Amino acid sequence: MAGMKALLRLSLLWVSIATQTAAHQQPLADSRLAINGVPFATRAYWMRVANQALSDLVSPCPFGAFGTAIVNHTSGEGLGELVCIGANSIGSTGEIAAINNCTAVLTSPTGPYNLTASQAQTAFKSLSLYTNAESCPMCASAIRWAGFKEYIYGTSIDTLIEKGWGQIRIASADVFAASYDLSAATRLMGEVLTNETDPYFAWQYDPEYACPVGCGRQKGSCAKMK
Ligand SMILES: *[C@@H]1O[C@H](CO)[C@@H](O)[C@H](O)[C@H]1NC(C)=O
Ligand SMILES: *[C@@H]1O[C@H](CO)[C@@H](O)[C@H](O)[C@H]1NC(C)=O
Ligand SMILES: *[C@@H]1O[C@H](CO)[C@@H](O)[C@H](O)[C@H]1NC(C)=O
Ligand SMILES: *[C@@H]1O[C@H](CO)[C@@H](O)[C@H](O)[C@H]1NC(C)=O
Repeated sequence: MAGMKALLRLSLLWVSIATQTAAHQQPLADSRLAINGVPFATRAYWMRVANQALSDLVSPCPFGAFGTAIVNHTSGEGLGELVCIGANSIGSTGEIAAINNCTAVLTSPTGPYNLTASQAQTAFKSLSLYTNAESCPMCASAIRWAGFKEYIYGTSIDTLIEKGWGQIRIASADVFAASYDLSAATRLMGEVLTNETDPYFAWQYDPEYACPVGCGRQKGSCAKMK
């Protein structure tokens, strides 16, 4: 009898875990919606800039293909304004590279902003971070600490795992849900333009998968075509 109860409890727990997982898999953005006043076409434009950051800073097909663009959407009409880009490099993920780069861009005395460090920190509260894959828990935490207005990601952690990437299985939504003590709120939009971000993460562990545009298979890996 006790065994039955334990089994029942276990299966209820399983149902609740399964439901949570299913909820995470629901894309939070939809191509018909304008979220926070920004239409999908504009979101798609900046997600493509996050993809393009790879080619601009590293190569069209780096192994760790994590690209980020940080954007000011409060400059009113139109697409908004690019503040900085970042891409995965050794010892730094795309998001952290972009946050560091933006801090440098915003505080450069010879740059267009010339902010103090504390003004730069305040500026993040009005900026949107676009990244082509869902952040690792450490980066999602950094995004919350920086206090971004919005965080928009493409490929989900679930998809990365499906494609063979080792990941810490904590969704950004969970990190955000646990960060309510922080003063700034950050709007999260997941799985935006995954049809264009997923291919950057699909070839590394699948020798049959086509390389990103501009690259070809060389010794099993994708490399930039000359
Ligand atoms: C964002 O744009 C608004 C409107 O142009 C401007 O007032 C603000 O300073 C900009 N923020 C940054 C960090 O560039
Ligand atoms: C920083 O961002 C700027 C503006 O987008 C870009 O031109 C530059 O290459 C970036 N630098 C690094 C180190 O990522
Ligand atoms: C940047 O701002 C500082 C003061 O905040 C000022 O002294 C300096 O002249 C500014 N630099 C430029 C290039 O305008
Ligand atoms: C990806 O899907 C979006 C709609 O969600 C569409 O606007 C875009 O053209 C698609 N991209 C490609 C390369 O088919």
